[in-house]
Amino acid sequence: MEYKKYYRKTSLKQEGIGSFFLNEILKKNPKTFLEIGVFHGVTARNVCELLFKSHGNNFNYIGLDLFEESDENKNEIIPNTTFSSNPVKQFYYKYIKRQNPYSLEAVEELLNKFKNNIHLIKGNSNKVLKKIDMSKIDYVFLDGGHEYNTVLNDLNCCMDVINNSGTVLCDDYDLQQAPGVKKAIDEFVNKNNLNCSIIGNGRFAKIEKN
Ligand SMILES: C[S@@+](CC[C@H](N)C(=O)[O-])C[C@H]1O[C@@H](n2cnc3c(N)ncnc32)[C@H](O)[C@@H]1O
Repeated sequence: MEYKKYYRKTSLKQEGIGSFFLNEILKKNPKTFLEIGVFHGVTARNVCELLFKSHGNNFNYIGLDLFEESDENKNEIIPNTTFSSNPVKQFYYKYIKRQNPYSLEAVEELLNKFKNNIHLIKGNSNKVLKKIDMSKIDYVFLDGGHEYNTVLNDLNCCMDVINNSGTVLCDDYDLQQAPGVKKAIDEFVNKNNLNCSIIGNGRFAKIEKN
């Protein structure tokens, strides 16, 4: 399945990686999907299109993000949220759309077609995930904060998903600038004796129960 970019930024921009990701999700064909780290919502829209094809309106997408740059996340690696190297897109969002694509409202608009199936949450995963009933979720794309403690917190909160035979797909396992991602994943997998496959040329860690 083709991964579309919707004139926005995404971390799955590398040629072929978006389609690889969507095919990976299709293998499990989940009905309730959680994305931790939504950013401009490009992956969110692609996932909703995919789930709609499989299940019609019988699916749920939950997306969680800080949706703002603040002191709280100043140590996190957040992709450049503006289009500083692309003046045409910069002009489009500033003067035509008059919208910050890294905002809850902008992502809501991108997902408007699926407004009855989506639930977007603005907040920090370190606090919010503890309040979500994770036993209802069967697929998690973990791509939020990349600091060791945040990744470990997010993974620990996903234990119910894994115990219920769900999947947690983590991005950036091999990202050199964020060594805490791999450290947290390796520790979590070993401690809980889980099955972890490294896929997509080392980029993704897919965690499931043994
Ligand atoms: C790499 S981007 C996500 C990219 C997106 N999944 C995609 O495919 O385009 C990481 C996002 O995680 C968010 N983030 C960072 N720390 C977070 C935290 N503690 N809780 C929630 N979101 C967080 C950032 O604001 C950023 O939008």
